[in-house]
Amino acid sequence: MQHFAQISDPHLSSLEGVRARDLLSKRALGYLSWRQRRRFEHRPEVLAALGRDLEQFELDQVLVTGDLTHVGLPQEFRQALAWLRELGTPAEVAVIPGNHDASVATPWRDSFALWRDYMASDTASTLPDSLASLYPSLRERGDIAFIGLSTACPKPPFMATGTVGPEQLARLPALLDAAHARGAFRVVYIHHSPLPGKDKWRKRLTDAALVQDIIASHGAELVLNGHGHRGHYDELATVHGTAPVVAAPSASALGLHGGQVASYNCYGVERCDGGWQLAISARDYQPASGEFVAGESRGVTLLRAL
Ligand SMILES: [Fe+2]
Repeated sequence: MQHFAQISDPHLSSLEGVRARDLLSKRALGYLSWRQRRRFEHRPEVLAALGRDLEQFELDQVLVTGDLTHVGLPQEFRQALAWLRELGTPAEVAVIPGNHDASVATPWRDSFALWRDYMASDTASTLPDSLASLYPSLRERGDIAFIGLSTACPKPPFMATGTVGPEQLARLPALLDAAHARGAFRVVYIHHSPLPGKDKWRKRLTDAALVQDIIASHGAELVLNGHGHRGHYDELATVHGTAPVVAAPSASALGLHGGQVASYNCYGVERCDGGWQLAISARDYQPASGEFVAGESRGVTLLRAL
């Protein structure tokens, strides 16, 4: 059995020392949100406990599904890079960006260039200089093909939407088809939900219907997203059979103001008669003990003509 984990929406950076009046309008709004609420909700001690919890597992890959920062300042990209290095090497940890990471346009070299090795495909032939040149990403580990999509692009104030865009949409079908031809278990991971209507209008993926159509018509075995800070399990009918669509909550949240307490997911995949056996196991943070423990788990048989 192969194993991997999904960590989402850690919002791990600190804006201590930053002044709202020094920031552009959208960042100023994000700063105020951090000052008033988010810095109490997303806690470094929770992520430290998560790091300790992960050490017990033998994982083929750790997926980080976006929103590592609050407003995407260069200092936040540097803080996030330090955290990623604690989590593992670029070969072990795969990152996709979230809307917070692209809050406003920032010079490439001060922002996503720092995470480049963690976002890259196994075969990165040229030096990327944009998210569009990095995604969709492809990493293959044993029987599993991890296909990452970026939804991150600057949006107007008060909007937390995302867009995959025509360049990634044009390349995605061939990646799904080739991985299927190799008999791989295809994991598509994306920050926003690709299911239209799942995220609120202000937080939606603007081209979700197109993404969902491609996944449905070219197939996938598992779709993972974050963004909503709530765990969800859905299923999508695809040309090759049902694909679970799993949303992971924030990995760093204390659950203040009615939010969900931090959790992350571990997945186990193995071939079985007629397809694949998938195990989904949540690891939930316990504020009282300060540790992560086993949470809800489920097993899913995915029938596939292999
Ligand atoms: Fe998000």
